[in-house]
Amino acid sequence: MRNQFLIIGTILIASVFALWLFDLITLWVLIPIAIICIIGFHDAFQKKHTILRNFPLIGHFRYLFESISPEIQQYFIERNTDGRPFSRNYRALVYQRAKDVNDTRPFGTQLELNNSFYEGLRHSIYAKSVKEELPRIIVGGADCKKPYEASLLNVSAMSFGSLSANAIMALNAGARKGNFYHNTGEGGISPYHLKHGGDLVWQIGTAYFGCRTENGEFDPEEFKKKAHYDQVKMIEIKLSQGAKPGHGGVLPAIKNTPEIAKIRGLQPHTEVHSPPSHSHFSDAKGLLEFVQELRELSDGKPIGFKLCIGNTEEFDELCQEMVNSGIKPDFITVDGAEGGTGAAPLEFSDSVGLPLQPALIYVNENLKKHNIRNKIKVIASGKIISSQSIIKMLALGADFCNSARAFMFSVGCIQALRCNTNACPTGVATQNKNLQKGLVMEEKSERVYNFHRNTVKAAMEMLAACGLESIDEVTMDIFLKGNKFVSMENEYFPEKMDGESRH
Ligand SMILES: Cc1cc2nc3c(=O)[nH]c(=O)nc-3n(C[C@H](O)[C@H](O)[C@H](O)COP(=O)(O)O)c2cc1C
Repeated sequence: MRNQFLIIGTILIASVFALWLFDLITLWVLIPIAIICIIGFHDAFQKKHTILRNFPLIGHFRYLFESISPEIQQYFIERNTDGRPFSRNYRALVYQRAKDVNDTRPFGTQLELNNSFYEGLRHSIYAKSVKEELPRIIVGGADCKKPYEASLLNVSAMSFGSLSANAIMALNAGARKGNFYHNTGEGGISPYHLKHGGDLVWQIGTAYFGCRTENGEFDPEEFKKKAHYDQVKMIEIKLSQGAKPGHGGVLPAIKNTPEIAKIRGLQPHTEVHSPPSHSHFSDAKGLLEFVQELRELSDGKPIGFKLCIGNTEEFDELCQEMVNSGIKPDFITVDGAEGGTGAAPLEFSDSVGLPLQPALIYVNENLKKHNIRNKIKVIASGKIISSQSIIKMLALGADFCNSARAFMFSVGCIQALRCNTNACPTGVATQNKNLQKGLVMEEKSERVYNFHRNTVKAAMEMLAACGLESIDEVTMDIFLKGNKFVSMENEYFPEKMDGESRH
């Protein structure tokens, strides 16, 4: 192809040039043909791209189609039950609930139910009427002076920086109206988190953004100032996240704008690393002492940590240390390996950490084994998008749930898979000011509110269908797959873990 192009291109450009010299064609014909030929010659002689060198000009189509392959996939190929990570059916469900329009489906399920993946609920002949009042869950153990009443579903950690200012404001204003919390993510508390007054969980990551000294250590004084904000209801120490457990992050100099630098406590325009683990502690004892330190500095607000379960022996040791030291977190957020991220290495997303289901069973059972389950609330996160997923998490041992990507859908995310490029077409996961203009905060905050309310209501309907009146009554055996969950527990964690009951 290359040789053919070089011959044809040379003849073409020479002939067109000759025709122009003899005034047989105008400059308007010569120029476009010359540009095309020059691009082709450049392709043929450049050394970086094999495809362009071997297939000058037409090789560009490969790059074009590759760049729009997610769109082609989504618009022309994907069926309702396809789509990764979230199927079209479930994305549509969020959009409908967010817009508060009809969310029913015609004609019956599109799933094949007679196979081993089916996870149905064992409903009751004696279904209850649906409770109007949405459940609240109190977080805060004996050492907590300012317990918090959480909703069944809340916004999971996503920083200003990975999400746009408009997206953060829409989430926060929705949370305010719906009375649920909004986790700041590890990027600190921004003015966009504060503007609309929604409840915040302030997340402290390994870079201690928002409460760090100049050399990146934890700064108690800075922490104390912000922990006292009335809007900050709980504090979460981030140990790891499901999509990239044990992996740090880099804030490139170009993204470290004066605005971001001010919020995070950095020198602008410098490259900043989030280490893979905390510098303030390095073992179970140190982590619990940090919990206690934050509890005192925040004057008794609920303190917890978020982690993706990996090495179960370490978690077991941590629980043992809670018993020995008497210091317990008020909550533990268990993030499944299937959880979302703005950007992560593929190998970390695909193959590090335990998925949410076994992780949750493990955490729940292990806390029971150490007789501390009823002192600590367990929060689940990882692909929680529907009422069924909420009920399932309760059945597997969670007290309540967080969701990140479902709330992103509610503010307009279309799963374009561009969060790591700063080119999110919906203005959700980008700092590009022009793209952000498409996301109208007032409109989308209403959708956040609707999505939350309609999803929690739908969870209450499922509960009632099972003949249950309270979320505390949910157990594994309301699932048809209950036995399989139990056997999964045996598969992942063969030792039997006895102890007190959760409630
Ligand atoms: C855009 C984006 C940014 C995120 N940022 C953070 C973060 O700052 N801290 C954190 O602990 N988790 C972060 N996460 C992970 C979520 O908080 C959550 O644990 C995970 O996405 C759960 O899966 P879900 O999206 O299916 O709900 C982020 C996720 C996304 C999609």
